[in-house]
Amino acid sequence: MGSSIFLLRLILTSFLLFTFFLETVHGTRKSYIVYLGAHSHGSSPTSVDLQTATFSHYHLLASTLGSEEKAKEAVIYSYNKHINGFAAMLEEEEAADIAKNPNVVSVFLSKKHELHTTRSWEFLGLQRNGKNSAWQKGSFGENTIIANIDTGVWPESESFSDKGYGPVPSKWRGGNVCQINKLPRSKANLCNRKLIGARFFNKAFQAYNGELVPSLQTARDFMGHGTHTLSTAGGNFVRGASVFAVGNGTAKGGSPRARVAAYKVCWSLTDPAGCYGADVLAAIDQAIDDGVDVINLSVGGNYVVTPEGIFTDEVSIGAFHAISRNIVVVASAGNNGPTPGSVVNVDPWVFTIAASTIDRDFSSNLTINNNQQIEGASLFVNLPPNQAFSLILSTDAKLANATFRDAQLCRRGTLDPAKVKGKIVRCIRDGKIKSVAEGNEALSSGAQGMILGNQKQNGKTTFGEPHVLSTVGTNDDHAGGQSDFFLTATDPIESGATIRMSPARTLFGRKPAPVMASFSSRGPNKIQPSILKPDVTAPGVNILAAYSEFASASTLLTDKRRGFKFNVLQGTSMSCPHVAGIAGLLKTRYPSWSPAAIKSAIMTTATTRDNINRPIQDAFAKTLATPFAYGSGHVQPDLAIDPGLVYDLGLTDYLNFLCASGYDQQLISALNFNRTFICSGTHSVTDLNYPSITLPNLGLKAVTITRTVTNVGTPSTYTATAQLPGYNIAVVPNSLTFNKIGEKKTFKVTVQASSVTKRRTYQFGELRWTDGKHIVRSPITVKRR
Ligand SMILES: *[C@@H]1O[C@H](CO)[C@@H](O)[C@H](O)[C@H]1NC(C)=O
Ligand SMILES: *[C@@H]1O[C@H](CO)[C@@H](O)[C@H](O)[C@H]1NC(C)=O
Ligand SMILES: *[C@@H]1O[C@H](CO)[C@@H](O)[C@H](O)[C@H]1NC(C)=O
Ligand SMILES: *[C@@H]1O[C@H](CO)[C@@H](O)[C@H](O)[C@H]1NC(C)=O
Repeated sequence: MGSSIFLLRLILTSFLLFTFFLETVHGTRKSYIVYLGAHSHGSSPTSVDLQTATFSHYHLLASTLGSEEKAKEAVIYSYNKHINGFAAMLEEEEAADIAKNPNVVSVFLSKKHELHTTRSWEFLGLQRNGKNSAWQKGSFGENTIIANIDTGVWPESESFSDKGYGPVPSKWRGGNVCQINKLPRSKANLCNRKLIGARFFNKAFQAYNGELVPSLQTARDFMGHGTHTLSTAGGNFVRGASVFAVGNGTAKGGSPRARVAAYKVCWSLTDPAGCYGADVLAAIDQAIDDGVDVINLSVGGNYVVTPEGIFTDEVSIGAFHAISRNIVVVASAGNNGPTPGSVVNVDPWVFTIAASTIDRDFSSNLTINNNQQIEGASLFVNLPPNQAFSLILSTDAKLANATFRDAQLCRRGTLDPAKVKGKIVRCIRDGKIKSVAEGNEALSSGAQGMILGNQKQNGKTTFGEPHVLSTVGTNDDHAGGQSDFFLTATDPIESGATIRMSPARTLFGRKPAPVMASFSSRGPNKIQPSILKPDVTAPGVNILAAYSEFASASTLLTDKRRGFKFNVLQGTSMSCPHVAGIAGLLKTRYPSWSPAAIKSAIMTTATTRDNINRPIQDAFAKTLATPFAYGSGHVQPDLAIDPGLVYDLGLTDYLNFLCASGYDQQLISALNFNRTFICSGTHSVTDLNYPSITLPNLGLKAVTITRTVTNVGTPSTYTATAQLPGYNIAVVPNSLTFNKIGEKKTFKVTVQASSVTKRRTYQFGELRWTDGKHIVRSPITVKRR
């Protein structure tokens, strides 16, 4: 605690410096990324290779800037390991000039990405780990190295203790680099055999925001996000993990025995955290070089549809290079649901993860007027359970100078203490996956407790959050959300009612679960419509994991509640590391599998049913969820570990996909380690050997697509069934016999609309291959134009 206070002082001091530096940012120069494709040196470049590459970057830039001196000065990163290119501070005209060089694939402004949980930056929460058996198998994941590109790490967390670990795996090439400052009085060894490396990348951040003071030049996590997600992916088993004594249980990562390495790229002393693309690329280049197996990306790709498309997005480029070095890249779908088409990180080489609930809730019962009970989400209630309090709607306690809407959301300075004091106040959530700020206003106005109702966009998803006073979150059935947050006449939650709040409890075995979270971003994929995204869903609501002891419970600097070893967070950022963890299990079990095979195993064994064996529901639509919410379905690690067949893909397949997508052959060759790649012209985007099938623009003519499956199980004969309501669909051949592991068989699927097929709407179906033991399932998504 003492050291936390020290750090708080340090941060606040730096914060003032930070605003000062904001004034001094350079004039018109901006950071551009000049992307050159792949290096022709091999996968383990020597120091001479690195020097040569950097020199070639200076040389190229000198032809525009006039001298190598000037070039050296302008370059902030030379990507000299696996990604070929550099980031430099340039004028717009200089950038345009460099783009004319025929060796340049693309030149683009380094973007500022936002962390996927921090659009609601007061993320807090508890975790729930699914009870799936493979997650419990602690012996798995032992030698897998998971890289987390995020806000850094809190190395003192027990989740990263190396007790019982053998030596660092020899494939780790990152040496002993551990760029974390020590806490006062702390023991040595911040990195160890569990947390095997930590680095930070902030040159682009500093170019825009001014230089950070030396004590902030560290991979230490001040925000909690990176520690939380890293421990979800690869944290140790830690008993007695809890927040406010709720959710007491064992916190653990998806690959509890994996080794982890932190690459800090997201920096913030203000809201929201910014992750600059040039810093992200540098971290990915380093992680590839360090020899990691899985990269988990916390920032969103967001490129615009242009002819250059993927070549102007750092996440897309970085992920491509990682995959061509056999590294699994897992990224979140985003928290912009339920808007259709909001999914990001949509490249076929990225594993894109949606978020859903688990079967554990943190709950409290509200008793209204002594006769009606509503169950809501809560981490913490400390009101006497038998005492009834008078309820007031925040809009009825509005100060004269506040707007109705601000008062509805309990924004600062909107509530009249004379009306609120001693009561329970009902506010509406002011964000998708935050919010604790409402509690500050309620508490400072003298409220005893708070009911936090959902907005319509929050649907039925409710959150356990570390509020500053006793709080219960209710869904839109009870908070007027259905009528766009105005109460219906029959809603019992109205001013003057009496309310009792029961103590918060952890409830297990909740049904139905999973339910798709309202905030989870949805398909269709607007950028590459023939690839279904997201790919799968995993737990991302009320996730309890390790936390930065510096960060306050709510991550607000003004929140004095600090020193939490664990916290509960929400978001696709939380679901993503679950899948990174599962990928780690598979990688340990099958070291020779490609990233695509690992992804296929997880996708084709996912389920579209919940724990009462009904189709998974959507918390927003109050109807059934579709593949646009969950992709192939909810992950089932214990089945993924024995998938039977996989849809494999390699670099050539991705390059052919780029050919079929219309990219220039010379650009594609630059990605092929500078070996000429010939686009054959016979490839179609729908033929990419993806584990799902999507035909976004079907006419009346029948369309046939090809897929190839690889046997990874015992000798067996598989038969196919396919269904797609409103269409004719056939699989040829519909029986495949495999005699050995690694054997490949190709089949074709023909889809034809009938004259009565509904137009311009998506229809969902599925293809299954089964040998009686395995079911290898692919969602089919078709739209008739
Ligand atoms: C959590 O449970 C353990 C064992 O059941 C118990 O010893 C511990 O006190 C509990 N922690 C809290 C905060 O309730
Ligand atoms: C709320 O009440 C119901 C019905 O009495 C009970 O089953 C449930 O466990 C209670 N929930 C909490 C959080 O106490
Ligand atoms: C309204 O006035 C009160 C009392 O002067 C002040 O504390 C509060 O901040 C004001 N609220 C807004 C929204 O301006
Ligand atoms: C993993 O990726 C997600 C989303 O892309 C991110 O939010 C999270 O912080 C990352 N964490 C870890 C350990 O992998």
